[in-house]
This record gives sequence, C-alpha cells and structure tokens, in this order.
Amino acid sequence: MNFKACFAAALCASVFSGAAIAQDYPTKPVTVIVPFAAGGPTDVAARIYGEFFARTLGQNFVIENAAGAGGTTGSVRAARAAPDGYTIFVHNVAPHVAGPALYPSAQYDPVKNFEPIGTLAFAAHYIVLRKDFPAKDLREFIAYAKQNPGKINYGSAGAGSATHLACVLLGQQAGVDIVHVPYRGTGPALNDLVAGTLDMMCDQGLNMMGQVPSGNVRPIAIAQKTRFKALPDVPTTAEAGLPGFEVQAATAMYAIAGTPAPVVAKLVATMAAAYKDPALRKRVEDLASELPGPGQDTPAGLAAFTKSEMERLSEAIRKGNVKAQ
Ligand code: MLT
Repeated sequence: MNFKACFAAALCASVFSGAAIAQDYPTKPVTVIVPFAAGGPTDVAARIYGEFFARTLGQNFVIENAAGAGGTTGSVRAARAAPDGYTIFVHNVAPHVAGPALYPSAQYDPVKNFEPIGTLAFAAHYIVLRKDFPAKDLREFIAYAKQNPGKINYGSAGAGSATHLACVLLGQQAGVDIVHVPYRGTGPALNDLVAGTLDMMCDQGLNMMGQVPSGNVRPIAIAQKTRFKALPDVPTTAEAGLPGFEVQAATAMYAIAGTPAPVVAKLVATMAAAYKDPALRKRVEDLASELPGPGQDTPAGLAAFTKSEMERLSEAIRKGNVKAQ
C-alpha cells in the first residue's frame, strides 16, 4: 500500500494508523483477565504464556484474577473492556461458553464479543480422591458412592466451571449422587482436597499434577482414551470401568472483539512463536497438558472449537437441567 494507491482519505488513514499501531504495539503493559483464582490451571497457563508474550513483545503482561460465578464474572468484564489490545482474556473454553446458559444475567456472547487468538493447552480431567478415601479404584469408588448417596463432596472452580460440569457428567454417567462445593478456582479447591476436607475432584491434570508424587491426592482415572505418559499407572476411564466418560479442558486466549486487526495479527504471530518455543512446550507438557496440534493451533481452529463447545454444552446443560446454585 502506498499513498498513490490510497484514493479514499478515510481508508488511507485507517490503514496507515492500523499499521502504525501494530508496529508500536504494545507501548504499555497489557492486562490479561483470568476468571479464576491464582494457582489454578487457567491462571498457571496464562502466566506461562504471559511470560513468553512479555519477553517477545517487550512489555509486561499482567494477570488480573477476576474470579466469581464459575468464571462468568471474568467473561463479562472482558467483553466490556476497551478493544485496543491492552486487555486480553485467557479462559477455559467450557465455562466461557457455558456461562450464558447457566447465568441468564451474564450479558456477553462467548463468540461475538471475542476475537480468537489461540489455544494454550488441552488437559484431560482426572477423577482424583483425597489420599485416604476408602476406595482403591474407580469401580470401588462408584460402588461406595452408590452406597452413600449425597455423602461424597467434590470441589470445583464454581457453578458452570469445567471442574463442575465434568463431575455433573460423572454423576450422570456413573449413576451416583455426589455433592458440589464451589470455590473461586481449582487452586483453592485442591488445597482442601489435600487437607482432606473435600473427598474428590474432577480436576485437570495441570492443577493436581504437583500433588501426585508426594501422595497428597490420588488420581484413579484419566477421562480420555489414552493414559498420560507422565502418569502411566493411572488407567483411562474405559479401562477403569466407565467407558465414554471423557472430558478435556481447553485453555484459550481471546482478544476483545473490535481490536484492530494488525494488533490481533501480532498477538496471533506471538502465539505461533510460543508453540515453537521448546522451553514453553516442556513447561506445558510437564503439567500433564498438550499443546494444540495441527488444525487446532490457529485462530480458526479455536473459533470452530469455541462454537462447537458452545452448542454441545448448552445442550447438555438444558438436558441435564443443570443450575448455577
Ligand atoms: C475450571 O473451569 O474448572 C477452571 O479451569 C478452573 C481454574 O482454572 O481454576
């Protein structure tokens, strides 16, 4: 593009100012809204990538934990932020898209109000018990839960969070009545599981991994088709007696809809560079998570996933009559 090719003054101004914005961006710290408490998987993934973005783009990426209402407080705040690239959003896709179905007052559209940048990590959920829970495996756990309806409590990051929805599905599929205890993030919930005041969680590997080697918590099954290489002794749910119970969390980064295209492109390029960084890859993989594979590692891949998860979970919430309590 040069001046001769620019016939319409307004168009010229916007093209050249967009290019200038992208060239300079970011000229000040960027706020990263995370809708759960510090120490949980969304927060940890946001910090790992935030450090990479800060190093690459030369400005701090400052995490703001806006917890509440299973993550919808953060989604609402992000949807209303100025679309200038100085506020971006990192969320778990499931609670982000489930929010409006569970909280009718949550005024945001998970698709239209956001601009996909990229998926940070996929992490399978584990069924994980407090260390002295009286069941050695999933079959014994289900038998015990059937004999003790309403007596087993599980922690989550709040009504509508992925850790809540995963245990709702577990209850439905295993035919057991387990009791929900909402927290502001899975970080604080895990502390209570370690302390033994909670019985169990349907937690992401990224959250509980650090507590497994010391025996502080006991994962009894991974809710996906394959075992995870870092925990080879933990069976899949199919192997452990509950085939079909598969739940994977996806943590993703979005800009706010309306952010200038050149700024979005710079964020997308930085995300692509992050995927290639061996140190970042190792940090994510050491936390029982995977980076997105081909087709998932683009904004279009994230856009398609966000849309299909919204349809799938809204339907599950309606069918299961799940309520935000
Ligand atoms: C969830 O949806 O359960 C979250 O990922 C929890 C968290 O990040 O703390």
